[in-house]
Amino acid sequence: MRENEVWETKPRFFVQFFAIVVVFVLAKRRILYKIKLGLKTMRITILHDEKEIGARVAEIFVRLLNEKPNAVLGFATGSSPLPIYAELVKACRSGRISFREATSFNLDEYLACPDKKQTYRYFMDENLFSQIDIRESFTYFPSPKHPESYDEAIEKAGGVDLQLLGIGRDGHIGFNEPGAAFDSKTHIVTLTPSTLEANARFFDDDPKKVPTKAVSMGLGTILKAKHIVLIADDPSKKEAITKLMSHQEDISSPATVLNRHSNVDVFLSESVLR
Ligand code: GLP
Repeated sequence: MRENEVWETKPRFFVQFFAIVVVFVLAKRRILYKIKLGLKTMRITILHDEKEIGARVAEIFVRLLNEKPNAVLGFATGSSPLPIYAELVKACRSGRISFREATSFNLDEYLACPDKKQTYRYFMDENLFSQIDIRESFTYFPSPKHPESYDEAIEKAGGVDLQLLGIGRDGHIGFNEPGAAFDSKTHIVTLTPSTLEANARFFDDDPKKVPTKAVSMGLGTILKAKHIVLIADDPSKKEAITKLMSHQEDISSPATVLNRHSNVDVFLSESVLR
């Protein structure tokens, strides 16, 4: 009689035990997922305009350089970073910061640029480097000869502490166009018609004058930065920003790769989401 009871309760016990294990695993996964999501959620700040973005983001650089004078900085080109660079010039001139011990790595550079004045090296020299105390030999740009050696150089310098990013209308960051591999290293890219058109404003408004190729940090390279700050101040970026904020990775909108990073700040002007 007692033996029978044992045999009757045994299967029930196993079913109950199995159900408890399943519930526990699912709950744990959900909790872990929530924690993961919580850790990876980017911080989004909406400010009035590009001037406010400039002042706020410049303060992040100021704080970093004061804490770590030999910081490794990742710079971007385009119109959006200009107010930040203007603030950094002011901060350097007034003695609030120094770039003397800093190193910088720019995101990207055109290939076969017909006019030296259109290169990103020239842009950075004009708008920042010539007006601050950074050592020129410590300002790096990717080279088409050995693109991947850029990743090695960044690593050797200790990795990027703070990476500034703009965003293209099609969601590109650096020159990583839609479809770029999320784990890519520095590589040569072919620019899309949308980017050629967007950047034509720097080339007499003629998309045909924009170089069709560039060398860019890869998405994998960018993800290695310790802190990433992405800025956008133009309504033409609305779609790309909306995709970024949906927290879904989407290979057709490269900036969404930032959802994989745990330390991202996004600064937007009110006009972007209007
Ligand atoms: C270029 C640069 C990007 C930059 C983008 C947006 O394509 N390669 O790094 O983010 O332009 O530029 P803007 O800030 O002018 O809108």
